[in-house]
Amino acid sequence: MKRDFLAIADYSPRELEDMLELALLLKQEWKTGGNKPILKGKSLGMIFQKPSLRTRVSFEMAMQHLGGYAFYLSPQEIGLGKREAISDVARVLSGYVDGIMARVFAHEHVVELARWASVPVINGLSDYNHPAQAFTDAFTIYEHYGKVRGLNVAFIGDGNNVAVSLMHIVAKLGGNFTWAGPEGYEMPQSAIAEAQAFAAESGSQLHFLHDPHEAVKDADVIYTDTWVSMGEEAEAEKRRQVFPPYQVNAALVAEAKPGVIVMHCLPAHRGEEITDEVADGPHSLLFRQAHNRLHAQKAILARLLGGL
Ligand code: CP
Ligand code: NVA
Repeated sequence: MKRDFLAIADYSPRELEDMLELALLLKQEWKTGGNKPILKGKSLGMIFQKPSLRTRVSFEMAMQHLGGYAFYLSPQEIGLGKREAISDVARVLSGYVDGIMARVFAHEHVVELARWASVPVINGLSDYNHPAQAFTDAFTIYEHYGKVRGLNVAFIGDGNNVAVSLMHIVAKLGGNFTWAGPEGYEMPQSAIAEAQAFAAESGSQLHFLHDPHEAVKDADVIYTDTWVSMGEEAEAEKRRQVFPPYQVNAALVAEAKPGVIVMHCLPAHRGEEITDEVADGPHSLLFRQAHNRLHAQKAILARLLGGL
């Protein structure tokens, strides 16, 4: 049976831990002479309905490093659900490629793709979640601290797609997760309920606050993301009025543990959710995190397409 990668929620803590180890191995292997061609002859079709730098390039390079091939399909090219029904796109592509990666607006669209595709489907971001990012984030935290369990991860800002997947992976792996953002911008209640179920299993503590100062106290990781996600441009002005108290700046970082690391999935809107001083400062892991997309993606691809 094929396996998709649509949500962190679909993977057990054990599976996630195994994949983190695999990512670590693949990163070491790559740094010491290159990866074995475990995906030789395999191909990945990448559907993008929104722009991307990291997701597109890291998946493409990951396939190449593992001996496979990836190609990009632009929004204009396939017109997912517009030029052609999603179910037809999924069934046609399944005859050409060994895997599909898709970045979509509506989460249901990637679910629909996976339902009809006979090859694995990887979610490259939807309006609901961003599991490939969260897996990379857990990998980056694991690489830095040697664990995720017991660490305090504070997400400051919008309860968006990135926050949902991060909350889920931290809860699955036994870390503690605190969210702080403005009223009305909380994560979906259903995502919180799922996280609570994962936390009950793992012993993770979850907190949902409106005070960023309270949230970063004792934080090992401070995470933030843009106040305006792709597709929300019409709300930009309103959001820019509400979110400034949630800016991750040097004063806020100073309230956390001295060794705190600062993370951001990027692209950053410097001067809004994060200052230059923090993004380029000693606590920042922003570029290591971005580079780790390559290694984390390899583990996902190796597992789904290479049967590792
Ligand atoms: N973090 C991330 O997914 O970046 P891109 O939008 O550039 O792919
Ligand atoms: N929350 C952001 C993440 C970009 C990688 C967005 O959806 O635009």
